[in-house]
This record gives sequence, C-alpha cells and structure tokens, in this order.
Amino acid sequence: MNRLSLSGLQQWMDDRFPLTSTWRYHMSEYYVSKNVNWWYLFGSLAILVLVIQVVSGVWLMFYYQPSAERAFSSVEFIMRDVDWGWLMRYMHTTGASAFFVVIYLHMYRSLLYGSYQKPRELLWITGVLLYLVLMAEAFMGYVLPWGQLSYWAGQVIISLASVVPVVGEELVVWLQGGYIVNEATLGRLYAFHVIGLPLVLIGLTFVHIVGLHHVGSSSPDGVEIKKNKDANGKPVDGIAFHPYITVKDLFGWGIFLILFCAVMFFAPTFGGFFIEPPNFQEADPLQTPSAIHPVWYFQAWYAMLQSIPNQALGVVVMLGASAILLFLPWIDRGQVGSIRLRGLGYKIGLGVFTITFIVLTWLGKQEPTGLPVILGQIFTVIYFGYFVFLWAYTYFGFEKTKPVPERVTV
Ligand code: HEM
Repeated sequence: MNRLSLSGLQQWMDDRFPLTSTWRYHMSEYYVSKNVNWWYLFGSLAILVLVIQVVSGVWLMFYYQPSAERAFSSVEFIMRDVDWGWLMRYMHTTGASAFFVVIYLHMYRSLLYGSYQKPRELLWITGVLLYLVLMAEAFMGYVLPWGQLSYWAGQVIISLASVVPVVGEELVVWLQGGYIVNEATLGRLYAFHVIGLPLVLIGLTFVHIVGLHHVGSSSPDGVEIKKNKDANGKPVDGIAFHPYITVKDLFGWGIFLILFCAVMFFAPTFGGFFIEPPNFQEADPLQTPSAIHPVWYFQAWYAMLQSIPNQALGVVVMLGASAILLFLPWIDRGQVGSIRLRGLGYKIGLGVFTITFIVLTWLGKQEPTGLPVILGQIFTVIYFGYFVFLWAYTYFGFEKTKPVPERVTV
C-alpha cells in the first residue's frame, strides 16, 4: 500500500484535477509589477465585500419574509429578537455602501492608470457590466425592508419604464405585477436579489479575474512587465502574486475591516447616508414621503434624471451616462495610460470630471427646484463634455506625453 503523504495526495489530485497548475498560474507564478500601489488593493477588497454580502445575506434570508404584510416586521424581528440579527443586518447595509466606495475607487484607479486601454478593454467592459449589475442588485435589496423610502424608490424607479414608447404603461404594470408596487413586485425583486443577480455577479467576477490573469495587471508607471522577461520567462520587473501581493492585500483587508467594523458597530446608519431615517417607517402606499431620493451611490445619476424636465430624455441621459463608460477604451485614443506620463490636459480633464461627479452626487439629494436643477443641467453637460474632450484631445494629437520608461523603478 502507498504511504500516505502530502505530496502523494497532491499527485493524486493533480492526476485528476489541475490543482497545482491552477495555483501556479493564478497565484505563485502570476507576476505583478513590483511597484503596484494601494490603488491596486480595491479589486481584492471588492471580492471581500462580495463574500461579506453573500454570507450576511444568506443569514438574513433565514428570517426575512418577502411579503408586503411581514417584510418590515420581519426586519424588526431580526434587529430585536434574533440572536446577532442586528449584526447581520448592519453588516449587510454597511456592506452595500462599502461595496460602492470600493468599486468607485477601483474604477477610479482605471482612470488614473489607463487600465481600460489595450489589452485590458474586455476587463474594463466586464467591470462596467459588474457595476451595472451591482446597481440593480443594490436597488432591489433596498426595496426589500419595505420601509417608506424602499417602497417609493421602487415605485419611482420601476415607473421609469413608462417612457418606453407605445408599450411603456403596460410594461410598468407587467414589471410590478399590478397597478402599484405590491406583494408581487416584492416577490420578484426578492428572487432577483437573493439568487438571480448574485449568480450573475459571481459569474462576471470569475470572467473578470480570468481575463485579468490572461493579460496581466498594469503598472502605475505604464510599463507592461510582460515585455521584459528573463531566460525562464519570468518578467524581470514582476513579483509573484503569492506570497508578495497576498500579504500586502491581507494587510489592506485588515485596515478595511477595522474601518468597516467601526461603521458597523458605532455608526451603522452613517448619519442617514447608509440607512435613511424615513426607512425606519413602514411602507405606506397612500402616503408619499416629502422627499424621495436614492442612497448616496446613485445620487449622481439621479441628479441627471431630475435636472431634465422631459422624463423620457432624462431616462435616456441617465442610462447613457453609465453606458458611455463601455466605450471609454475607444474614446481615449491616448498613446499612454498612466497619469504619470499623460499630458496636462488629461490631468485637468480628469480633475474636472472628478469634481463633476462629486457635485452631481451632492445635487442628487437636493430639492429638484431652482438652482439645483440648473446646476444639475450644467454638470450633466460637463460630465458628457469630458468624454468629447478626451476623444478630441487624444484623437487630434493635442496630448504631449512622456515616454514610457524601459523598466519599473520602485
Ligand atoms: C464585483 C466587482 C468587481 C470585482 C470583484 C473586481 C475584481 C478585480 C480584481 C481582484 C482585480 C485585480 C486587482 C486590482 O487591480 O485591483 C481587478 C482588476 C481590474 N478591474 Fe475589477 N472588479 C470589480 C469591478 C470592476 C469594475 C466596476 C470595473 C470598471 C468599470 C473594473 C475594472 C477593472 C480593470 C480595468 C482591472 C485591471 C486593472 C489593471 O491591471 O490596471 N472592475 N478587478
């Protein structure tokens, strides 16, 4: 009989499943530029938050009841009577906002280092799709506790489908499963939130990572480390993902989890930003809240919608604002990706774009009358203007860039 040993077990596995080769390809022999900085942490943080959301979400499902009669009280039950229920719920609500903080920073890294440029266009596209699905997932989850804002946000967002020509009104009734948001609507949002969209998110994340490991990560100074390999085929400016980046990421996870716990334990509503006060009241289909606005991470898009008087046009602009991101790899014709090498115009343009997004986010919470509406229109134009500028600036060769360095310098 063969002696049982670890290497024997490994061999047994390898004969039946590509365990060691997969580990090597994705971890111990996956090389990353030795100077990747903290901006490169957010992808792995997104995976961590995805796991937190799945674990806390499954837990919530043990007690949550997706019925108009009992949804709100089942959440109250979780908060007050279920052992550690409050922890699971606050983990899930904090996780929702944390997801968007992490994803926005992750996307911003792509703008800083041109991560969407060749050969990473598909990574960017799967990323934008992930972002769109994440928004749908967050919206659907938001309706589930059946608070006042849950209910009315559901009503406002689903009724946007009425702008579809000819069939719009019927479409809204079909989506809602009735003439108003009701029990049937809750049931379908629940189904999509707990299984439909999480499957898509996990599947897309898998594709995203497989794609990433095929082309390799970028480096902050624009060097493609694959271009310079030693005799063994190892990039001379690369370090192995495991153990070097795993250790770095684990440290980052630690800091993140400290901040996460601080919010979860001491400020779970985060001053009304993560859970808004009206949502502590049960949904009342007969009483519209005085102000309906979405959570902070949707407010930039909502500001665009609110500032355009024609609702159909508003919906098109709002959808177009995120859809345009899909085309970014072809809008930006720049010869270099890293901000360290780019022209002054790019830096100013990105600065203006950043401020624009923050201002729009702020505007999304203001009363939709007077100055906020005008500002919303101005900043919506600037938002789209950035893409036009970027295309013209790089297409007509206005950009004066620095040469890509030969080697990575730490
Ligand atoms: C659930 C959501 C997501 C997960 C779990 C995820 C995960 C990751 C991970 C682990 C990496 C490698 C580490 C890093 O570079 O930070 C990465 C890279 C990347 N991600 Fe994501 N990501 C997500 C969403 C997005 C979104 C929304 C975008 C953009 C719209 C995006 C675009 C990219 C790009 C372009 C890279 C390559 C970066 C480079 O090497 O320069 N990802 N992603």
